[in-house]
Amino acid sequence: MKCVDDFRLQLGNKQLVPIMIGGMGVDISTARLALEAARLGGVGHISDAMVPTVTDRRFDTKFVKTKLAKYKFNVDNPDKSVVQFDLGVLEEATRLHVGNAMQQKQGDGLVFINCMEKLTMNAPKETLRVRMRAALDAGIDGITLAAGLHLGSFALIEDHPRFRDAKLGIIVSSLRALQLFLKKNGRCGRMPDYVVVEGPLAGGHLGFGMDWAEYDLASIFTEIRDWLKAEQLDIPLIPAGGIFTGSDAAGFLEAGAGAVQVATRFTVTRECGLPEKVQQEYFKADEDDIEVNQLSPTGYPMRMIKGCPAIGDSIRPNCEAYGYLLDAKGSCSYIEAYHKAHEAHPGERRVPVWEKTCLCTHMRNFDCWTCGHYAYRLKDTTHRLADGSYQLLSAEHVFHDYQYSTDHKIALPKREVCLLAG
Ligand SMILES: Cc1cc2nc3c(=O)[nH]c(=O)nc-3n(C[C@H](O)[C@H](O)[C@H](O)COP(=O)(O)O)c2cc1C
Repeated sequence: MKCVDDFRLQLGNKQLVPIMIGGMGVDISTARLALEAARLGGVGHISDAMVPTVTDRRFDTKFVKTKLAKYKFNVDNPDKSVVQFDLGVLEEATRLHVGNAMQQKQGDGLVFINCMEKLTMNAPKETLRVRMRAALDAGIDGITLAAGLHLGSFALIEDHPRFRDAKLGIIVSSLRALQLFLKKNGRCGRMPDYVVVEGPLAGGHLGFGMDWAEYDLASIFTEIRDWLKAEQLDIPLIPAGGIFTGSDAAGFLEAGAGAVQVATRFTVTRECGLPEKVQQEYFKADEDDIEVNQLSPTGYPMRMIKGCPAIGDSIRPNCEAYGYLLDAKGSCSYIEAYHKAHEAHPGERRVPVWEKTCLCTHMRNFDCWTCGHYAYRLKDTTHRLADGSYQLLSAEHVFHDYQYSTDHKIALPKREVCLLAG
């Protein structure tokens, strides 16, 4: 039986190990994780979600504090239309975030950025344009367009000097979405360099309704692969969602995939941005601890670990500080849900909101534990330690396990020796 290492992903003149670590916002797929993928010859993603918040944490900028000070007068107002992002700040933060990652890059692989259209930021077009252009300016190897149809996204960068040299790809969950994307972006005279087809078992937001369980990745992959072939479009197709072992990956590569995109197995690596306490929750999760719900204000279903603090929390909307999901009119469905919950419980200070979650605040604080369907198998990928906790993995170990394993085997890491003090 073949393994992943028997294949290569050809992107332009580059030959890569056909493993892409998917973008995981907010700063879950850190620069450190993406750089490991690149060092090992594959493709890693950083995320462009809430970048000013991320640079505040990593580079001690004060972007969030400044924005909050400017709009503090509006915190009790459900109408957030005045709360606008400063495009200069957004550009500066993106350049810092991307530039820093690219400066550290080693090895033959690539570092891409995951750009979500659903981060509408009270000015969808203007903010997306700045985010993509600043990432290109700062030397990103490629942009993966995510969480949205991106019908106008190529046009926002078509006059950028790197429009043709940077790798550009799109994540879709159906052939129809891909056809629409190609039709609308075709006028820019450029095809995507790769297409990620994400099935219903992925982490993060799903490109399906609540009937997600009726779909499966293999069928959608086959449909798109056959259509691309019939149209004589030679674009690498990259399946994602529920690819848990090297053999799962090799199966897709044998069926004609250009590479695979994986994420959940890397959530429990040391290079991942999740705090260790949260990583232990991922390890502990059983199958019935994981649900797909409609709590995300984006309108897309999202998979989460049921016990996460983001569910049923009572936090006041925090758009003056964050506001990444505000639509073009300055509203977010969490604001509506929050006020509805308070109207039903007049006079109470802390009212749990069950209908939606304040995704910005909870993602920023690592309190929204989104994961792929197979997160309940993470415990089988490592050792249980004497204190009952699970041993974290290195990204290199997980990457190599995908690259070399056969027969659905999962290689366990070398057991850490616990040195007791005293
Ligand atoms: C914790 C987590 C966060 C994610 N965040 C994003 C995101 O911000 N944008 C995105 O396009 N996909 C996101 N995803 C989806 C992954 O990039 C990837 O396509 C998918 O999870 C692959 O399936 P797997 O996790 O079963 O390997 C996320 C996945 C996880 C597990």
